[in-house]
Amino acid sequence: MDLHLKRKIAVVTGGGSGIGFAIAKQLAAEGAVVVVTARRQDALDKAVAAIGGSTVGFAADVGQAASLKALYVQVRERFGRIDVLIANAGGGVHAPLGQITEDQMDQQFSTNVKGVVLTIQEALPLLGAGSSVVIVGSSASMDPGPTMSIYGGTKAAIRNMVRSWVAELKGSGIRINLLSPGPTNTESLRTAFGEHAEEGLAFLRDKSPLGRIGEPEEIASAVAFLASDAASYINGVELFADGGASQT
Ligand SMILES: NC(=O)c1ccc[n+]([C@@H]2O[C@H](COP(=O)([O-])OP(=O)(O)OC[C@H]3O[C@@H](n4cnc5c(N)ncnc54)[C@H](OP(=O)(O)O)[C@@H]3O)[C@@H](O)[C@H]2O)c1
Repeated sequence: MDLHLKRKIAVVTGGGSGIGFAIAKQLAAEGAVVVVTARRQDALDKAVAAIGGSTVGFAADVGQAASLKALYVQVRERFGRIDVLIANAGGGVHAPLGQITEDQMDQQFSTNVKGVVLTIQEALPLLGAGSSVVIVGSSASMDPGPTMSIYGGTKAAIRNMVRSWVAELKGSGIRINLLSPGPTNTESLRTAFGEHAEEGLAFLRDKSPLGRIGEPEEIASAVAFLASDAASYINGVELFADGGASQT
C-alpha cells in the first residue's frame, strides 16, 4: 500500500531511541522529510545519522513550552508547515500504591500529559487541512496492571482529551488519533523492570494472545498508517497494537 507520505513534513518527538526512532525511520523510508526531536543531543545525532536521507534533529524538551516554541520556529523557517506530527515522547515508572512518589507523578504527568498537550497546541499554527497527528499512547490507558497506575492514568487522560480535541478541531481538516502499543521491545521497557526484567518480560509474553511482546517496527508501521492518507477517514480513535493483550 502506498501511504503517500513522499515529501510530507513529519515531526517525531522522542525520536532519539526506541519506538520514536523506529517511527522516524519508517516515515523517512516512506519518503517523508523527518524532523526528530529529543532532549539528548548525542542520541539525536546518532538517530539522525542512522536514519539518513533528509532527516534533521532539533533538541527539544516537550515538558517546556518555550523549548517547543523554539523547535517550531525552526521547523517553520526551514519547512513552513507540518503534515504529520507524532507525539511520542513519554515514559513510565513502576510503583505500587503506597510507594508512589511526588517526583514520579510530576515527571510522568509532565512528559506524558503536559508534554503531549504542548506538542500539539504549539504546533497548531503549522498544521493545516489534511495534516495528521498521531499520539503514541499505551495499552495501559485501559489495562495498566499492577504498579502502573500513574502511567496508565497519564495515557487515559490523553485518550480522553482527544475526544474533546477532535470536536474542537471540527472543520479544520486536521485528524488526531492515538496508537497505543502494548509492551514493546525497547531498552526503556527492560530498564523499567529493573532487576526483575526477565520475570517481567516472561509475565508480559505469557499474558499476550500472540505469546510475545511487540517490536518497535510493528508499532511504527501502525503509526505510519494512521498518519497517512490511507487513514483519511479515521479520526479520534485509539488503535491498539498490543497483540490483543489488553482485550483479554
Ligand atoms: N516500550 C514499551 O513497551 C511501550 C509500551 C507502550 C507505550 N509506550 C510509549 O511509547 C513511547 C516511546 O517509548 P519507548 O519505549 O520508545 O521509550 P524510550 O526508548 O525511552 O524513548 C523515549 C524517547 O523520548 C524522549 N523523551 C523523553 N522525555 C522527553 C521529553 N521531556 N522531551 C523530549 N523528548 C523526551 C527520549 O529522549 P531524551 O531522553 O533524550 O529526551 C527518547 O528519545 C512513550 O510514549 C511510551 O509511553 C512504550
